[in-house]
Amino acid sequence: MSKLDEQIKLLEWEDLGDERGNLVVVEGNMDIPFEIKRVFYIYGSDDTVVRGQHANMRSEFVMINVCGTSRVKVDNGEESRTIELNRPRMGLYLKNNVWKDMYDFSPDSILLVLSSEHYDNAEYIRDYQEYLNYMKSMKETAK
Ligand code: TYD
Repeated sequence: MSKLDEQIKLLEWEDLGDERGNLVVVEGNMDIPFEIKRVFYIYGSDDTVVRGQHANMRSEFVMINVCGTSRVKVDNGEESRTIELNRPRMGLYLKNNVWKDMYDFSPDSILLVLSSEHYDNAEYIRDYQEYLNYMKSMKETAK
């Protein structure tokens, strides 16, 4: 298994819906691998913008397109992959230290993001070269 496979995970939740409609439940530490400290959502983006373009040294995330679709490109400095988020029962789990770009938002896209941490600008790496250097230094330390 490649390292990226250990850093990201596709999640699929049950639909508890009935004749009244659908219901999906995501509980911290149960349906996702962390306690939820923060929720934010992105809407009103379109297919001309790229969001994200950063890595977080501490935060873990689960991304869910609760409405519409988007694509997420994940990258660990050695490998990258693109995932289409296209249904409300699907989540993309990202461990810390994964670089991510979100793009190709459909006009109705609402991208819900659950996070393991409160917002802290100091844990963001927003420069890709700096990210590569950081990942390299992490690898050296782990040796
Ligand atoms: P940004 O990180 O650029 O959003 P995205 O990852 O979707 O591209 O965040 C935009 C602005 O919002 C920036 O000034 C930081 C602020 N922000 C918070 O204050 N709290 C948060 O939880 C997030 C995600 C962003």
